[in-house]
Amino acid sequence: MDYASLFRLDGKHVLVIGAGSGIGRESALALAAHGARVTCADRDLVAAQETAGSELTAYELDVLDDAAVERAAAELDPVDVLVFTAATNVRKRILDYTSEEFDRVVSLNLRASFQLIRAFGRGMAERGSGSIIGFSSIRGTTVEPGQSVYAATKAGLVQLLRTAAAELGPSGVRANAIAPGVVETPLTAQIKANKGWYDAYAQKGALGRWAQPSELAGAVVYLASDAASFVTGSVLAVDGGWTAVDGRFDPPN
Ligand SMILES: NC(=O)c1ccc[n+]([C@@H]2O[C@H](COP(=O)([O-])OP(=O)(O)OC[C@H]3O[C@@H](n4cnc5c(N)ncnc54)[C@H](O)[C@@H]3O)[C@@H](O)[C@H]2O)c1
Repeated sequence: MDYASLFRLDGKHVLVIGAGSGIGRESALALAAHGARVTCADRDLVAAQETAGSELTAYELDVLDDAAVERAAAELDPVDVLVFTAATNVRKRILDYTSEEFDRVVSLNLRASFQLIRAFGRGMAERGSGSIIGFSSIRGTTVEPGQSVYAATKAGLVQLLRTAAAELGPSGVRANAIAPGVVETPLTAQIKANKGWYDAYAQKGALGRWAQPSELAGAVVYLASDAASFVTGSVLAVDGGWTAVDGRFDPPN
């Protein structure tokens, strides 16, 4: 066993969707640093190009467009590893939520994930190998007021990926979720702008701070690589201890 190359991705084609920002951008760069040929896809082509630079390939893709997803699979296959990060949140209480907002969050976070797993899982199954990596959240497990639909999609994505693991496992395809804690990206800019909110989140986890998006990249490389060859149907928490620690009170000694 060549343990020194356990995390290497030489010869693998990795498609990162959401590569124009935050966790997707850092994941694309880390995957490339481990030898992968990376296609950086995003609805925002300029942002994808900024990630890709001169070494990687940028690709314009709106995952809400079913035909575009099918076209991407036809144009980009063979894809050995699929990573998708695109998601949105509307932080509002249930009684204030509109049906339009519900549809918007479910369409991107859940429906588009389903379409991607179908479009790229098919080729992987035919070739007998592949790794599918989606992004759940601490909100797939724990909630607070205002997280209803986002939390439901993040829990739903876990079950979608577990079922993909069950259905595609016999064909050699793995499917896993990563569940981040609070990460400083454009998705959470609304929270960072409110000091009380930002500090409360920092204190909730065991490490007492937020994550940088680069701190999620190791989990992506791991699940993409042969280091995770027996890992499927799992949820990998990268949350600084958020879901481990209750956090309401430190009892006296
Ligand atoms: N940031 C956090 O604190 C945090 C915490 C838990 C989970 N997550 C999850 O991690 C993932 C990545 O989050 P992030 O903070 O990096 O997000 P982000 O908003 O920084 O990046 C998302 C990217 O997806 C792209 N995108 C949006 N809609 C698209 C579409 N229709 N088609 C193609 N691309 C589209 C955007 O252009 C953007 O580049 C998400 O699934 C999110 O739910 C994030």
